[in-house]
Amino acid sequence: MNENRERVLDELLQHRDSFLSGEELSKRLSISRTAVWKHIEELRRDGYTINAVRKQGYMIKAVPSSLEVSAIHPFLETEFVGKEMYTYGEVMSTQLIAHEKAKSGAASGTVILADLQTQGKARLGRRWHSPKGTGIWMSLMVKPYLPLSAIPQLTLLTAVALVRGIHQEIGLEVQIKWPNDLLFHGKKLCGILTEVQAEADQVNYVIIGIGMNVNHQEKDFDESLSSIATSLRIEKGKKLDRNKLIAVLLKEWEILYQLYMKQGFSPIKTLWETYALSLGQQITARTVQGNYTGMAKGITDEGILLLEDEQGTIHKIYSADIET
Ligand code: BTN
Repeated sequence: MNENRERVLDELLQHRDSFLSGEELSKRLSISRTAVWKHIEELRRDGYTINAVRKQGYMIKAVPSSLEVSAIHPFLETEFVGKEMYTYGEVMSTQLIAHEKAKSGAASGTVILADLQTQGKARLGRRWHSPKGTGIWMSLMVKPYLPLSAIPQLTLLTAVALVRGIHQEIGLEVQIKWPNDLLFHGKKLCGILTEVQAEADQVNYVIIGIGMNVNHQEKDFDESLSSIATSLRIEKGKKLDRNKLIAVLLKEWEILYQLYMKQGFSPIKTLWETYALSLGQQITARTVQGNYTGMAKGITDEGILLLEDEQGTIHKIYSADIET
């Protein structure tokens, strides 16, 4: 998008509930009133609904529903996350695009978003249901200087960032089910899939895939999902602005990532434990080696779940489906 058009949009979005006159816009941006009018017309052509009232000016009423870098950037307050950002109408999986971008030299912090995924990937080789225009289907690529063993911590860090971002923006208190599910009243709102490209102990890049059910209505979930999944819209009772939410989530992620890089995993672990759902509870962990039932005691610094069975034996759970 043309730089001045983006600035006009930025001003209108920052004054969402009031009119901004053409004169004020032209002064603020040091462009002519004719240029302001031309940019408003172009924004309308791009799908923005902008009201114009004589002697009062312009007010933005609606932004296009599909994800747009230009609609996210005015809200984005990060230092490096999302500075390189790509949005797509339809992709197989944002993870695949993120791998391609990482290999072709994209900067750490690059974000890939899609309105629709035809083959969204979930953990354990499963599919992630990614209907058009409803969710946040996003991959964040970072190139951290970390040992391979530390990468699961980034999944836990991401879960904490998302819980905090949702709370800040929407006011819902979401909980984390180890290792990577965000639940609200027991139903899944969001999943995280972390993929790594590494050699020996040298991490080249990490891709953190985030699938968040945002504007789904009940009818958008298949029958098999409707009893176990929910969306922010269903829980909050109103449609949400995905573009704004994305910016808030990325900011929260960057804050925690910078804290982690300075102070290590300990502060993240403390936060994770305050949001964790099943600590201190009886759970069953279904792993590829078999099932373990017992008390969820906590997580290690490596993000591994500790489960104590009836005999008092502590089992380290690296990867599993958890049932409560
Ligand atoms: C899980 O709960 O198993 C993780 C699901 C992760 C889904 C997201 S959607 C964006 C990104 N692209 C994908 O193909 N998968 C992740």
